Amino acid sequence: MDKRFKEISLLIREYSLGRFENDITLSPLLDEVDAISNGINMLGEELRAITISRNYFNNIFNSVSDMVFILNNKGVIEDANRSAEVQLHYESGALFGKTINDLHKGNISILRSITKELKKGNSLISNESFLHTKYGNVIPVSITATYFKDERKKKQVILLTACDITYQKKAENLVIRAIIDTQEIERRRLAKDLHDSLTQQLSAIKFYISSIAESAKNQQQKIILLKSNDALTNVITDMRNICFNLMPKTLEEFSLLKAVKEFCNHFLYHKKAKFIIEQTNALPNFSKELKIDLYRVIQEFITNAINHGNANKITIRFSYLKEILKLLLVDNGKGFDTNQSGRGMGIQNMQSRIKSHKGELNIESYMGKGTSYKISIPLND
Ligand SMILES: Nc1ncnc2c1ncn2[C@@H]1O[C@H](COP(=O)(O)OP(=O)(O)O)[C@@H](O)[C@H]1O
Ligand SMILES: [Mg+2]
Repeated sequence: MDKRFKEISLLIREYSLGRFENDITLSPLLDEVDAISNGINMLGEELRAITISRNYFNNIFNSVSDMVFILNNKGVIEDANRSAEVQLHYESGALFGKTINDLHKGNISILRSITKELKKGNSLISNESFLHTKYGNVIPVSITATYFKDERKKKQVILLTACDITYQKKAENLVIRAIIDTQEIERRRLAKDLHDSLTQQLSAIKFYISSIAESAKNQQQKIILLKSNDALTNVITDMRNICFNLMPKTLEEFSLLKAVKEFCNHFLYHKKAKFIIEQTNALPNFSKELKIDLYRVIQEFITNAINHGNANKITIRFSYLKEILKLLLVDNGKGFDTNQSGRGMGIQNMQSRIKSHKGELNIESYMGKGTSYKISIPLND
């Protein structure tokens, strides 16, 4: 009898250590002690089954290539799979206790935007965002999140998966770059054609009309001719503006700074906002392509700042240091949520233009506090 109790207590000890492989061989007596042993054997079987299914899920959790996080309602990471640790360069277990916002570092809390959507009743949300690795590199990711009931802890957690979309983004950028290049070529051709044919011919007509207007004897005809002359002046001005927008001649012939100054004056933007355009040191010459790309970026920034941000002060600062061209663009407008900005073509085009010169664009924007772009472009190759 003593020996059998000892066997029971040894097995229970094994169970407590998470080992469920062994069981007790029943005696031929089949008495009460055997009944207890039988119960313990059954418990062992169940525990074995639970362990197998737990291991099964752990294996899935750790072998999917997407990053998977379990977050509590404060955004604290309660669990993260191997992919998350590997892709974000954290040691095993080092992500636990950090918050998802620690990995995002955007201007808007990623947790807040996720819970806002989930609370609206969307059971599964997905959007594009980015995560920072331990070393500060930024990985573009596609995120899906859903509420998830943790039965063990009897509480609701957030199951968040993040899929690295670096290659997809690169491919998208290449496509966008190709579209932009085609657009630029077309714009240049159109600007040239309009300028060299239509504008020249209109100027010639204007010249004829103004010469007959001056010598016209009939007062009524004279008035009509003068009016036609004024109308033609407006058409020519509009045409010049269109050509300028398509491809400013200044940009082809002079510096970027000059073209930007001209752009601000040309479209009466200077009546809507005060422009501070400066250069902290001498800029080197750079390629025509880069000049056009930066010009378009600045053009888009100004248009956004005035139209979306209602800004009335815009600063454009160029500097050049250690073979890196830096461009700072700041507005004092109403700001926006940069997490949501993926939708606009404007910002996406700016990103691809800058990326194609191996440059970086860093956008910071705070609600009510304006927007700033920091652009840096290496000029050494
Ligand atoms: N400087 C800015 N100030 C305020 N909001 C901005 C600014 N720049 C961009 N935005 C916001 O970001 C969105 C995307 O901009 P963009 O990519 O240029 O596309 P679009 O101008 O065609 O809307 C805008 O619709 C606007 O809501
Ligand atoms: Mg825009």
